[in-house]
Amino acid sequence: MYKKILVKAPAKVNLTLDVKYKRQDGYHELETVMHQVDLFDRLFLEVGGDQSIVINSNSQEIPHDYDNLVYKAAQTIMEKYGFKAGVNVFIEKNIPVEAGLAGGSSDAAAALYGINELFSLGASMEELLEMGATLGSDIPFCLYGATALARGRGELLEAMPQGPELILVLVKPPFQVSTAEVYRSLDLDQINLHPNNLQFLGAWAECNLNAIAANMVNVLESVTINKYPELERIKKELVGMGALNAVMSGSGPTIMGLFADRELANSAMTIMKEQYKHTYLVSSYVRSDY
Ligand code: C5P
Repeated sequence: MYKKILVKAPAKVNLTLDVKYKRQDGYHELETVMHQVDLFDRLFLEVGGDQSIVINSNSQEIPHDYDNLVYKAAQTIMEKYGFKAGVNVFIEKNIPVEAGLAGGSSDAAAALYGINELFSLGASMEELLEMGATLGSDIPFCLYGATALARGRGELLEAMPQGPELILVLVKPPFQVSTAEVYRSLDLDQINLHPNNLQFLGAWAECNLNAIAANMVNVLESVTINKYPELERIKKELVGMGALNAVMSGSGPTIMGLFADRELANSAMTIMKEQYKHTYLVSSYVRSDY
């Protein structure tokens, strides 16, 4: 048992995102390639004084109470293991919120992982994945890490081999979108371009960057870009600055440009940052600690 622990919570991007159909339970059946990048929140967890869960953060944009997924994650794992103790969590927020980058989900995944370690609860990775799925569709992937093909709500994960190290410029414009709202507005009959995930997986296995870029497609663009045409302009600007392709991540609004060349990516990042303060140059991240 530790007194305190620091856990990194990396952002995720969707390299492809397909919606197959709307399910009876209201969720959408997905087939999406998820990928972790080296933009991190950090969770500092320590044993608390009494039996309460206390959340603090450098960000005022996230709730510091029960509404935070980290609180729910802490409560879920402590209850499941009948462990009574307090825990103090400080969330260093660097991933923009409601951006399509799974920041909140990754924080919750880090809380599950960290509390399991902090109190030596003994949960296996399968048990953590199961608990994660009850809290949010993206949380299992955030625990699983690296790159995976996700189906179901996003919680059924299939490992993918380590592909090429991607160089991405992420641009998050100054508005946020609600994932639930995007899915609610999705009209599957209006979508004429779906990703070909089989082709994407082939390109990935061959580390063929051009083919990877050509197969990056996200059907949720039909909703979010329709609402915010500025996103189309960001995509074009990134391609104009040398990106092999630029697509939206998740339900948006973050747009990611894939670059073959780090210098080109760096200058695109510098230029886009003048317009959009939430612009980041990131690379693929493969976790080594768990
Ligand atoms: O699972 P999570 O709470 O993160 O999802 C947020 C919302 O996004 C859900 O309430 C649902 O409306 C929508 N969603 C969906 N299909 C998915 C994942 C999420 O409709 N596969």
